Amino acid sequence: MAGILLQCVVVAVFAFGVCWGLPNQSRWARTEALDSKGQVRLHWTPRITKGDIQFLFVAPSTGWVGVGFSPNGGMIGADMVIGGIRNGSPYFRDCHSVGNTLPDVDIQQDYELVRAMENGTHTWLHFSRKINTTDLLQDYQITNEAVDIIWAYGERDPRIGEEPAYHALNRGERSLSILDAIVDVGQEEASADPSKNGTEI
Ligand SMILES: *[C@@H]1O[C@H](CO)[C@@H](O)[C@H](O)[C@H]1NC(C)=O
Ligand SMILES: *[C@@H]1O[C@H](CO)[C@@H](O)[C@H](O)[C@H]1NC(C)=O
Ligand SMILES: *[C@@H]1O[C@H](CO)[C@@H](O)[C@H](O)[C@H]1NC(C)=O
Ligand SMILES: *[C@@H]1O[C@H](CO)[C@@H](O)[C@H](O)[C@H]1NC(C)=O
Repeated sequence: MAGILLQCVVVAVFAFGVCWGLPNQSRWARTEALDSKGQVRLHWTPRITKGDIQFLFVAPSTGWVGVGFSPNGGMIGADMVIGGIRNGSPYFRDCHSVGNTLPDVDIQQDYELVRAMENGTHTWLHFSRKINTTDLLQDYQITNEAVDIIWAYGERDPRIGEEPAYHALNRGERSLSILDAIVDVGQEEASADPSKNGTEI
């Protein structure tokens, strides 16, 4: 890892205990490029028996990065997370947008940061959410339908208490089915509950 500034923080329930370096991308059930250059990527694994979805989002910035779901394609009504690493500390928020403006922070925080990482050019957010967060007002209700995945990033981190500086060029969207045709591939899952056999939908 020489020469790589690697900042790694274990935050939540999934504490792996050690900083193992950049994520192993073959651990994920699905991987999709969200931009034309393949620099913005979303990896995810629905864990149906646990009722959650693990996500790994990467974007080519060491500022803030954001990704989420938009029922209508645009910012209006979008459910997104925004996060990054500021001065070595992770920040992460479950947000929603009521217009073509900066998103507001959700009253109920339903997305959980597992780890945030930076390598000098890119930022990774590994986070999870329940499939049904029960926040019917401010979270997108994930179903088998395709949904517009929206993403954006900014060149720098917001200061504490400051809004992320919006960068109109660094944004996009792609329609994807999050739960479509997915079997529950998590190996820990299968061994933890063999009766489910990792195939329950
Ligand atoms: C990444 O994960 C896959 C699947 O679990 C495994 O086969 C592979 O050896 C891992 N690669 C590294 C570099 O750990
Ligand atoms: C960070 O990781 C990305 C993706 O693996 C890679 O393209 C980029 O060159 C890395 N940056 C540095 C400074 O190592
Ligand atoms: C999600 O949970 C809420 C609250 O328990 C419930 O009202 C709602 O019907 C659930 N949604 C789905 C799709 O099961
Ligand atoms: C687990 O699922 C696989 C693939 O569907 C199936 O072939 C196998 O028989 C199942 N095992 C058990 C114990 O249900």
